[in-house]
Amino acid sequence: MYFQRLIFLCTFVKLVHGAAQNSHPADHHQWIAPTKSDVRSPCPGLNTLANHGYLPRNGKGITVPMILDAALPAKFSLLSGDAPTALDLDALALHNLVEHDASISRADFGLGDNLRFNETLFKTLANSNPGVNYYNASSAGLVMKERLDMSIKTNPNITNTPKEFAVRIRESAFYLSVMGNVSTGVAPKQFVQIFFREERLPIQEGWRRSKRLITAESMDDMSNVIAQAANWTATQSCEDLILGPNLVI
Ligand code: HEM
Ligand SMILES: *[C@@H]1O[C@H](CO)[C@@H](O)[C@H](O)[C@H]1NC(C)=O
Ligand SMILES: *[C@@H]1O[C@H](CO)[C@@H](O)[C@H](O)[C@H]1NC(C)=O
Ligand SMILES: *[C@@H]1O[C@H](CO)[C@@H](O)[C@H](O)[C@H]1NC(C)=O
Ligand SMILES: *[C@@H]1O[C@H](CO)[C@@H](O)[C@H](O)[C@H]1NC(C)=O
Ligand SMILES: *[C@@H]1O[C@H](CO)[C@@H](O)[C@H](O)[C@H]1NC(C)=O
Ligand SMILES: [Mg+2]
Repeated sequence: MYFQRLIFLCTFVKLVHGAAQNSHPADHHQWIAPTKSDVRSPCPGLNTLANHGYLPRNGKGITVPMILDAALPAKFSLLSGDAPTALDLDALALHNLVEHDASISRADFGLGDNLRFNETLFKTLANSNPGVNYYNASSAGLVMKERLDMSIKTNPNITNTPKEFAVRIRESAFYLSVMGNVSTGVAPKQFVQIFFREERLPIQEGWRRSKRLITAESMDDMSNVIAQAANWTATQSCEDLILGPNLVI
């Protein structure tokens, strides 16, 4: 299916993978909260890397090689800014490029702030999988369904095509894999909450980078479970208009 062929974000895990390797509390990869002049993105992953100094802490002038060798989302993101070779993280809030509605922790573009973390909206994930201290692939899928239902009810301009669904699945698999067990998709609630709320690697709480590399393949099984639990249906079909006629993905 269309959305299954969309490769998204996964290669970027290399970065997080490399990142945590050398992390000691005293080194220059300490977590430091962004200042008022620093810019951040709608992506907790990239923001975390900037907060730890793996990307420029001001969030500005980020180049593709800084993020990685080559990947689709990087190309997308470069289309969202003015500069041909670098971007500031806030450029990633450009709606319907990578940024989409029904995010876990940000408001829909048509409803509010699609860039910054929102605790009210994040409560859906925070309170999910009650009774245990971890999230997993089925709870992640249910969270996606709940957030989408909220958006469908309140946002008359929602964009919800197979493309958005594919991206959202990948993002859910991403937080489970980065903060939890790469093989099972079981992730401690505490780690996931710190990642979203503080955009910090929870090293002092006991998080360690995964020894197993996170790849598209490693996320395959949990993505299927997530997709099933999300019980998704499209609001619209895919359009290529957003990318223009010459960019077929
Ligand atoms: C370093 C590894 C990364 C991790 C762990 C990660 C994780 C995530 C997660 C969990 C979300 C969902 C947030 C939400 O729904 O509230 C997200 C959203 C996003 N990510 Fe990343 N990501 C990573 C890398 C990247 C890269 C390299 C890009 C560059 C283009 C990117 C661009 C985005 C954008 C634009 C969103 C906003 C989508 C939305 O929620 O509307 N991410 N990411
Ligand atoms: C939806 O889009 C229409 C037309 O562009 C606009 O007038 C309206 O304000 C939008 N509403 C929301 C909630 O985004
Ligand atoms: C967070 O989202 C809720 C629900 O959409 C909204 O009422 C609230 O104003 C938002 N908070 C901030 C700080 O944007
Ligand atoms: C996720 O955790 C819940 C609560 O323990 C459990 O009922 C559910 O079966 C788990 N899902 C998966 C895919 O293991
Ligand atoms: C992930 O879970 C599997 C299956 O329960 C287990 O064998 C493995 O040790 C776990 N990996 C880590 C890094 O804890
Ligand atoms: C899945 O969605 C369909 C409609 O799209 C609905 O009829 C069905 O009850 C849903 N199943 C679950 C388990 O939510
Ligand atoms: Mg969004």
